Amino acid sequence: MKRYCLILVLYLISSSRADISNKYFPESFQFGAAGAAYQIEGGWNEDGKGENIWDHFLHYNVSGKVVDDSNGDVACDSYHKWQEDVDNLKQLGVKLYRFSISWSRILPDGTPYQVNQKGIDYYLNLIKALKQNGIEPVITLYHWDLPQHLSEFGGWLNPQISDYFAAYARICFENFGPYVKYWTTINEPLSTCVIGYAQGLHAPGYYLIDGGMYQCAYVSLLAHAKAWHIYDEEFRAQQGGKVGISLACGAQLPFDPNSAQDQEAAERNYQMGCGWVGNPIYFGNWPQVMIDRIAAKSKQDNYPFSRLPEFTQEEIEFIKGTNDFLPLNYYTSALVQYADEWTGAPSYWLDINVQTFANESWPKSASDWLTSYPEGLRILLNRINKDYNPGEIIIAENGWSDNGELDDQGRLTYIQAHLSAILESILEDGVNVSGYTVWSLMDNFEWAEGYTQRFGIIKVDFDDPQRTRTWKSSAKYYQNVVATRCLLDQCQ
Ligand SMILES: *[C@@H]1O[C@H](CO)[C@@H](O)[C@H](O)[C@H]1NC(C)=O
Ligand SMILES: *[C@@H]1O[C@H](CO)[C@@H](O)[C@H](O)[C@H]1NC(C)=O
Ligand SMILES: *[C@@H]1O[C@H](CO)[C@@H](O)[C@H](O)[C@H]1NC(C)=O
Repeated sequence: MKRYCLILVLYLISSSRADISNKYFPESFQFGAAGAAYQIEGGWNEDGKGENIWDHFLHYNVSGKVVDDSNGDVACDSYHKWQEDVDNLKQLGVKLYRFSISWSRILPDGTPYQVNQKGIDYYLNLIKALKQNGIEPVITLYHWDLPQHLSEFGGWLNPQISDYFAAYARICFENFGPYVKYWTTINEPLSTCVIGYAQGLHAPGYYLIDGGMYQCAYVSLLAHAKAWHIYDEEFRAQQGGKVGISLACGAQLPFDPNSAQDQEAAERNYQMGCGWVGNPIYFGNWPQVMIDRIAAKSKQDNYPFSRLPEFTQEEIEFIKGTNDFLPLNYYTSALVQYADEWTGAPSYWLDINVQTFANESWPKSASDWLTSYPEGLRILLNRINKDYNPGEIIIAENGWSDNGELDDQGRLTYIQAHLSAILESILEDGVNVSGYTVWSLMDNFEWAEGYTQRFGIIKVDFDDPQRTRTWKSSAKYYQNVVATRCLLDQCQ
């Protein structure tokens, strides 16, 4: 009863927003929620699960890696509480649940030598419970938790890891494919490559800022393409699903829209972020500006080759056109300003060589990288639609961090405004966005920020051994949006 009174209050608040679309979402639009294995599951060594790079990163020499010295050993305990997660999804009324499979839960050392049936069963039970409640599983194969054994084998720097990934993908398609329509191979490969292999802030913690991220992206793209071809050749005919790699992008706006230098800097920053993965997937090769700049800088720094790996013609053909749909993660955008060429040791940052800012007028979250600019999502969707013509797009992540308050008006406003931007992109601009999985279903382990930044529409009490879940204001608002397909108290 209480919940309905609250919804009424929220109606009144939300109805005053003049900038929010008052149109209905199309009947075919699918609402959902998202999470990822290491961030929610816990059960890190249960029932035969092997060690992955996050377990390893945070079990040894841990101090300073995570702000609150925490880890994902228990997290939201979804390894035991998955039925409650399904109940919450059902009550929200959503039709999509995006989650990831923990590679080392299925293959303890990452290789196909030993398949852990208990790990398979965990995901089969989850998938079947979702389907029984009319919820489509949207499965990510890799959300940053490489089996430790494969990391010691060179991880995402070793091209052979792409074969191990392909073997793992095949096992997942065989076991879960009959129930799954949407697969994401790798979530935001650049986050792992830049933060994990260049900045050293995420597992496996390598500081290889001159070239680690380029090699990692190269291997990730090969891995994705191998998995896509396996699906295409061995499973698509019977299973009829779609396979994609997720891009994390934002609109890159020239700081001074009238400055040709700022326009060029903004475009370069866009291509060396979004285009770094998008270009190979849709056109076969790295963006030309990346190829040219890194080759020139490498030469200047006495390298007899480019620090950016070169694709063979065969690889270009193999990678091109391997997205059946686009899982797109959008959080924020940037203002980009031209900078004179910096000098210093070779690095990704010098390769890009631009200044980025958030506009002061964009509301700030609890994360220093995240400000709210919903118009940026509409700008980005139009750009991606025009450049890549990706067919179906799912907004696979979009969300807001705060300190965990139950009356999370900041998150509610962010979700409302971003859904409005999506709706306008669909109705006014003809962009084919078919679904939205909000990040995140519940508060979880936010990597190097531990449990200090909260993204959930549902609160998790991490001090309580039961990991009690409590709905926040944003969850109640979202439940109403899902039920009415309307962002305000009335639509037309
Ligand atoms: C432990 O971490 C510190 C700082 O992160 C690093 O300098 C040191 O080399 C690490 N030691 C080992 C044994 O990995
Ligand atoms: C920041 O946003 C304000 C309000 O939308 C706008 O007037 C201003 O031009 C923006 N600043 C920059 C540098 O883009
Ligand atoms: C839009 O996406 C839907 C799936 O939701 C697909 O069936 C349709 O073909 C797509 N339309 C275009 C024009 O790509």
